[in-house]
Amino acid sequence: MHDTFDIDVGIQDRFGGPDPTSMPFGYFDADGTCIANFSAFSMSVIIEGRPVKAAGFQSGAVRPQWRGRGLYRDLMNRAFSRCDAQGFELGLLLTDKPALYEPYGFRVVPQHKFVGSPPPIQPWTSARRLSLENADDIDLLKNLLFLNRVPVSERFAVASQAEMFLLNSFFDGDVRLDYLEAFDAVAAWKEDAGTVQLLDIAGRAIPLLGDILAALGVTHEDVEVCFPPDKLGWQGMPEVHASGTSLMIRGLPAESLVDPVMLSPMAEF
Ligand SMILES: CC(C)(COP(=O)(O)OP(=O)(O)OC[C@H]1O[C@@H](n2cnc3c(N)ncnc32)[C@H](O)[C@@H]1OP(=O)(O)O)[C@@H](O)C(=O)NCCC(=O)NCCS
Repeated sequence: MHDTFDIDVGIQDRFGGPDPTSMPFGYFDADGTCIANFSAFSMSVIIEGRPVKAAGFQSGAVRPQWRGRGLYRDLMNRAFSRCDAQGFELGLLLTDKPALYEPYGFRVVPQHKFVGSPPPIQPWTSARRLSLENADDIDLLKNLLFLNRVPVSERFAVASQAEMFLLNSFFDGDVRLDYLEAFDAVAAWKEDAGTVQLLDIAGRAIPLLGDILAALGVTHEDVEVCFPPDKLGWQGMPEVHASGTSLMIRGLPAESLVDPVMLSPMAEF
């Protein structure tokens, strides 16, 4: 991961280690160096109110001198067959090379964020900024993410998968994490000029958007919500989310995702 993507996944050790469901498929050379990898992991996804047992695929790479020999094809075949045999209903991945995965039944799901004006706000509660440098704050986050989280949307959300939330928070210095004590929930959000961007909510309950904004103390003119806002008591207009990476899904009947969706940036892997 470091040599190919310049990502130091060792940082996960600070947050409790890698996802224990991770199932890496790899090739090693005679000296024991990993030359090709493709990993699967397990996660529960909510789609139209139904929990779906899904496999995420990530960390796909072959060292340059070993490319073009079919190693990746072999690893993809092994990973997809193993997940099919283990009864995973759905496969998900994010990629900048969708053509690579189309032959295996993956199709691109267009992603939409939800934009609009903020709802009327009555300030009545406040929030506390969390820090990933503070062990108590990390414990609070892990407790919510691993044990007490409800899905942020019934339409489309990752229900269980804490590791990426923590890693994504760490890697993106613009993400703010605020604890809304009244709801026992953490809001992940950003702000830019006149816009507040809500990225995810990890909590025992999902507060209404007006309550979240009141607690955060923000009064921006525009709101962008980066997940389906069906629990927020607010409706934004879907707007295509421009990104260099595509969300691809395998195993989902075409009619299953009729309404616009977006995978929370905190769940990206
Ligand atoms: C993408 C990558 C993993 C391919 O590895 P590889 O060893 O060259 O792949 P293989 O030789 O096993 O080829 C497997 C298939 O993928 C196809 N393929 C390879 N690179 C591709 C690309 N960039 N776009 C579309 N298809 C591609 C091959 O043509 C081959 O098709 P076939 O099975 O119909 O013959 C490698 O180039 C790499 O590590 N790139 C940098 C990291 C990266 O982009 N990872 C993917 C992240 S989603």
